[in-house]
Amino acid sequence: MLFLNLKKYKDMRRGIFAVCLALLVCACGSKKSADAEMDKFVKNLMRKMTLEEKIGQLNLLSVGFDVTGPILSQGVEDKIEKGLVGGVFNTYTPDAVKKLQDIAITKSRLKIPLLFGYDVIHGHKTIFPIPLGLSASWDLDLINRTAKAAASEASADGLHWTFSPMVDISRDPRWGRVSEGSGEDPYLGSEVAKAMVRGYEQDGMSNPEAVMSCVKHFALYGASEAGRDYNTTDMSRQRMYNEYFPPYKAAVDAGASTVMTSFNEVDGIPATANKWLIDNMLRKEWGFQGFVVTDYTGIMEMVQHGMGNKTKVSELAINAGIDMDMVSEYFIDELPALAPSGKVKIEAIDAACRRILEAKYKLGLFTDPYRGASAERAAKQIMSAEKLSLSKEAAIKSMVLLKNDRQVLPLNAAKKIAFIGPLVKNQRDLIGNWSGAGSWKQAVSLWDALETSYGKGKFLYAKGCNLVDDEALRNKLNPHGGSIIPDSKTPQQLISEAVQTAQQSDVVVAVLGESFGMSGEAASRSGIGLLDNQKELLKALKKTGKPIVLVLMNGRPLVLQWENDNLDAILETWFAGTQAGPAIAEALFGAANPSGKVTMTFPRNVGQIPVYYNHKNTGRPFDATQKYTTKYLDVPNEPLYPFGYGLSYTTFKYSNVALTGQILTSNGAIEASVSVSNTGQYAGEEVVQFYIRDLAGSVTRPVKELKGFEKIMLNPGESKDVKFTITPEMLAFYNADLQLVSEPGEFHVFIGGSSATANKAEFTLK
Ligand code: BGC
Repeated sequence: MLFLNLKKYKDMRRGIFAVCLALLVCACGSKKSADAEMDKFVKNLMRKMTLEEKIGQLNLLSVGFDVTGPILSQGVEDKIEKGLVGGVFNTYTPDAVKKLQDIAITKSRLKIPLLFGYDVIHGHKTIFPIPLGLSASWDLDLINRTAKAAASEASADGLHWTFSPMVDISRDPRWGRVSEGSGEDPYLGSEVAKAMVRGYEQDGMSNPEAVMSCVKHFALYGASEAGRDYNTTDMSRQRMYNEYFPPYKAAVDAGASTVMTSFNEVDGIPATANKWLIDNMLRKEWGFQGFVVTDYTGIMEMVQHGMGNKTKVSELAINAGIDMDMVSEYFIDELPALAPSGKVKIEAIDAACRRILEAKYKLGLFTDPYRGASAERAAKQIMSAEKLSLSKEAAIKSMVLLKNDRQVLPLNAAKKIAFIGPLVKNQRDLIGNWSGAGSWKQAVSLWDALETSYGKGKFLYAKGCNLVDDEALRNKLNPHGGSIIPDSKTPQQLISEAVQTAQQSDVVVAVLGESFGMSGEAASRSGIGLLDNQKELLKALKKTGKPIVLVLMNGRPLVLQWENDNLDAILETWFAGTQAGPAIAEALFGAANPSGKVTMTFPRNVGQIPVYYNHKNTGRPFDATQKYTTKYLDVPNEPLYPFGYGLSYTTFKYSNVALTGQILTSNGAIEASVSVSNTGQYAGEEVVQFYIRDLAGSVTRPVKELKGFEKIMLNPGESKDVKFTITPEMLAFYNADLQLVSEPGEFHVFIGGSSATANKAEFTLK
């Protein structure tokens, strides 16, 4: 009987295997024939193209607004008609897209459709939390869904291509662009990069709701010296390969269609002219098949970098492997003469043109140049109830509870609560920087959300201070979308009013932080604390003796030492997006329980920067009993809030780490597990983090490296076992010869609720 069943089972398995194989062969076969068709189509088209028309495909122009560089494209329509433009960005809506696309497909000689790109960074019109906030959710499915929703809105609005994800690792919170990425860790950064690429590109460009992603900024942009934007970077290949490259590679492996080069230099050569980076690493080593675009005026800027004149930098860029020139128009001006001179091979121009035409083909633009975009589709998909609810979910899951003494949070609505601060009623800043086509007028403020849930007149309010008092700073922010108008009352009057309001309350909620323009591109800060006037307000409120909850809205890790020492609770909400208000209100009153964990270290002061968890040990690790060990005289080595840190309204207890064995063989695996229990009063989610330390190697190894994580939900009293599999591949790193190796030796494995966990076990790789 058993034999018969087994036989049946084996036959069945064989059958399933045969069907799968047939499907696979079929799929490979149909992919091959689709590729062959594309090849034929593109070759035919290119045969008809003049050299100028081919170079035209390499030209990407900005249509009108959102200038982030020194120049603005001129005469775009005329150039489209002449076949001198491959794509445009900074315009959307089906009508606006149709207007330009019609010129390309009716008036240009070969009627080649245009690509339409845009910076859809954390949502198109429904805005999600800034990427740094989203990464703090450690929820890859959620992040994937936000990217998918952004693609659905963007494609409905006529767009084909987003300049996202930004995957630059950064350890310097002075750099304003940390708001656009996923923080400091290569493993988490890689996982988020994959989730986003798959969210944008879904099952391929034949899906009308997918858009091409663009991995940026390749490479090392997050390592700008002193955190000053556009500044020089310089690092060892060791660090590049092990710590900074992984997220770019992960995004490419996940199928990203395009890559954008960075403004900075890599090994003394600007990324945009760096043949080693583009041709060797990206194309040959990683097998990238898509096209490479520069950043805004990236080619032009190489003159300032000191790489030569206009002709020279154009030659360098195309020979390095750049396919598309964003806004400089150097290719269009210089390549026609450079090609016949032999300094640029015609094959290089052909290859770039082919890659761009292939992208257009895959998008289906030669069949439907509008890709199904229409006002009806836009109306249905943009800011739908489903997307707004996703925006609220994302805002809740991104928040990080940094402090909560004596369980001052969640608030009890029966108490008298004073909401104080310039961000309580603010809408403008909620959607953060790089908020694409989002309208801040549609963002719901905290105050409006409170009134909707609890009625008018329930809570006390005072503005307390201006968001930015410093006139010089206001003058830098306001011309770029800021609307920071100083109050007609003096700062002293605002503070007095706030103090009086606080005195009438049982608890104060101070809502403070940055204006949206204080992070993002060209928004580096040398001091990253709350602005002085906001600090003064907090100090005055502190004197009332009332419990104080600080709700933060900002785009980077801040220095919060004083706030941590003096206030009762701190809730980091980042710039939380369209549904910021309702999400924060739910978290404050306990309808939602914060579960985010910071993905970038919060330093104690600026002097500690760069401070990050996966540092090396040094030869003289800190020892309080010894003078000559690595330390500061005025501040501990440890940051204020380490990578992976975040509290909950409930508490979690971890068991010791258990291993299924102590010896890992070259083709074996060990399972590491813990039991995590919810020991508090609230249901809550916990990000269980799994780190490894390689105790000795042929090159020095970090004191800890994140290798996995799992976000789990636990009810009060509930426990769950969480398991991670350790394999030799997971222990691999690039050695001094830049070979990926797993070296035998002793390892520590840590599992806990932050990178500071000491919960560890040991094993040996044989
Ligand atoms: C930024 C890119 C962006 C591009 C286009 C540049 O200034 O560095 O991240 O995609 O502008 O807007």
